[in-house]
Parts: sequence; structure tokens; C-alpha cells
Amino acid sequence: MELLTEIAVRKAAHSKIKEVNFDELEFGKYVSDHMLVCDYSVTAPMADNGWDQPMVVPFSNLSLSPAALALHYGQTVFEGMKAFRMQDGRINIFRMERHYERFARSLQRMCMAIPPREIFVDGLVKLIEVDQAWVPDGSDAALYLRPFMYASEAKFGIKIADEYRFVIFTGPVNELFSRPLRVKVETEYVRAAKGGTGAAKCGGNYGGALFPTRLAREMGYDQVLWTDAKENRFIEESGSMNVMFVINDTIITPPLSDSILDGVTRDTLLVLAEEMGYAVAERPVSVEELEEAFEKKTITEAFGAGTAAVVAPIQMIGINGNDYTLPAYGKQSLHETLKRKLHAIRTGREEDKYGWNYIVG
Ligand code: COI
Repeated sequence: MELLTEIAVRKAAHSKIKEVNFDELEFGKYVSDHMLVCDYSVTAPMADNGWDQPMVVPFSNLSLSPAALALHYGQTVFEGMKAFRMQDGRINIFRMERHYERFARSLQRMCMAIPPREIFVDGLVKLIEVDQAWVPDGSDAALYLRPFMYASEAKFGIKIADEYRFVIFTGPVNELFSRPLRVKVETEYVRAAKGGTGAAKCGGNYGGALFPTRLAREMGYDQVLWTDAKENRFIEESGSMNVMFVINDTIITPPLSDSILDGVTRDTLLVLAEEMGYAVAERPVSVEELEEAFEKKTITEAFGAGTAAVVAPIQMIGINGNDYTLPAYGKQSLHETLKRKLHAIRTGREEDKYGWNYIVG
């Protein structure tokens, strides 16, 4: 593929690929041989727009000053995408444009420099070209792509940084969760409030979620289901994924707001569900509505939607000390049907009507 950006490549002397057990791709365990690095500076005499030439280099530790602003004041933003091995052997980056747009919005919210689209796109393409052997082809497997950026400027007074480093690394993964989830509706701690950074994919949102998630784990749950910060009454998302319920045969998901991440899988599933003729509603879902739906048995499914999680069935929801179990799911459950359709599109088994696939070669 012809690239607009000049990207130098320094190859790793030895590949680590033989160390990978492709039959057991625990999420986050393996990283591929190379990474892309590109620096930005407001002041350095680099290219006109402040961005240095991107480089593909062997995956290695980063060197940064203890005074780097990211370490103190949290200017860090990341994305999560996936590249799939298609049935004809080519490689497809799924919904790259939408991920880039969200990355740019997150960076803007955190007052950080935004890498030009060409650096993002060409950087991914080059990196995947170099590490193409790492793209798995199992049915639940993909090459996870992790672009991220941090404030690298070494100046510990609180300020907007003038220097940033943009990095992309990749690693083969299976889905984030290997079994149906037990989630706890969280009504004490909150993830995000109106006007906050909840819609940005910034590191702090995830760091702040660790403590309540640990407490939920100690109670036997896998994840928390966040509620709104004002009343703890309406469901928001689950931290590593958006959430959807099937109540009275309608797929319902909370509407986007500045406290909910605009999930790419969320959007994809909503489009596919409509196309397949399911009733879909983006509207607030209260905790009382969920309780009532369990009591009247009108809720038939609950599931998470995320790049890492894909479509993650929820088996049980804990609400105010009561554990409500969802009916057992079969192959014909709605979320399974949606997941199969999603998989078929990303791997080229079904037509890509919406132009979501970016074929790398
Ligand atoms: C993703 O779905 O890509 C995410 O960023 C979730 C991450 C916390 C594993």
C-alpha cells in the first residue's frame, strides 16, 4: 500500500513470535515485535506542524524523565482497535476512522496535541505490514492495536505540556472475558460526572475505576455497572465496555453523554441490530426499571459491547444486595446473532455495506 508519510523502519534482531501460544491468547499478555513512535513538540524545529518523522522500531521500554508531565497530571489518552485476518488471508483494520476521530476528541478534551490522520493511519498500516505474521486467524482472535499518547515534557509545574510522544504497539488477543459476567450495579462510587472526562479515553478514567472494581470482585462480581453521578439511578456503562439490555424484545442502551464513552462496538451493534430488524432504543435505563424487568421476567438478555470485550454476555446482575440471574443463553440469543454478524463482516464473510473495513493487504 502506498503511504503518504515517510516512516523509517528499524527491525528487531530476533522475533518473539515463537514464544506465543496462539491457542491461548489471554488479553494483554503478548506484544508484537515492533512499535511505532512519533514525537511532537510545540517548540522543536521539526516539521512545520510540530510532528517528527514517525519510526517503526523494536518493541522496547520507553525512556522518560521522572518529571514528565504525564506521570503527575495525567495527560495520557489511548485507543483500542483490532485488525482481523480475513477469510481470504488479507488483514482488515475495523472502523479505523471512527477510532481516529474518538482519539482526536479525547486528546482535545485533555488539551493534548492531535497526531495528523496520515501519521495515525500510515503508522498503523506500516506497523501491521512489518508485524503481519502476528495477526491471528482464530475465530475470537485478533491483533489488538493500542495507539496512545502521553505528555513527555519534563517540567513538573502543572501546565499543558508542550511535548508529547505518540506510540502504537500491538499484540495478538482473544476476547477480554472468557466467560459470562457477574456485574454489580455500583451506587456508591462513580466513574464520571456531567462535565467531566467520562467520554474521553484518558488513563485516569480507568485508574479511578480500579478500587470500586476491586471491592466488587471481593464480593464475587467480575465488573461494576456504573450509574450516573447525580442520583446513582441510571445505568451508564461498565468501564471496559458499553452495556445493552434486551427488555420486552427491544435492545436498550443508555444514550451517549459526556459521562459515557462513545463505544465503536456499541455503534456497530446498534446499526446491525436495526438492519436485522430488531427493535432498538437509546434511552435512559434506571435501576428500578431493571429490578422490575427481572421481577416481571421481561428482561431476557444483558451484554457488554466493546472492542476488547466484543459482545460479552452478562449472566447475573447484582442490584442493592439482590443478585438477579439472566435466563441461560443459547446460540440463537440475540447477542450471539449480532456477534456472528459482526464477525462475518470483519472477516469478509459478509458484505461490508457500511465501509467499516480498512484492508491493509
Ligand atoms: C477496549 O475495548 O479496547 C478498551 O480499551 C478496554 C480496555 C480497558 C481493555
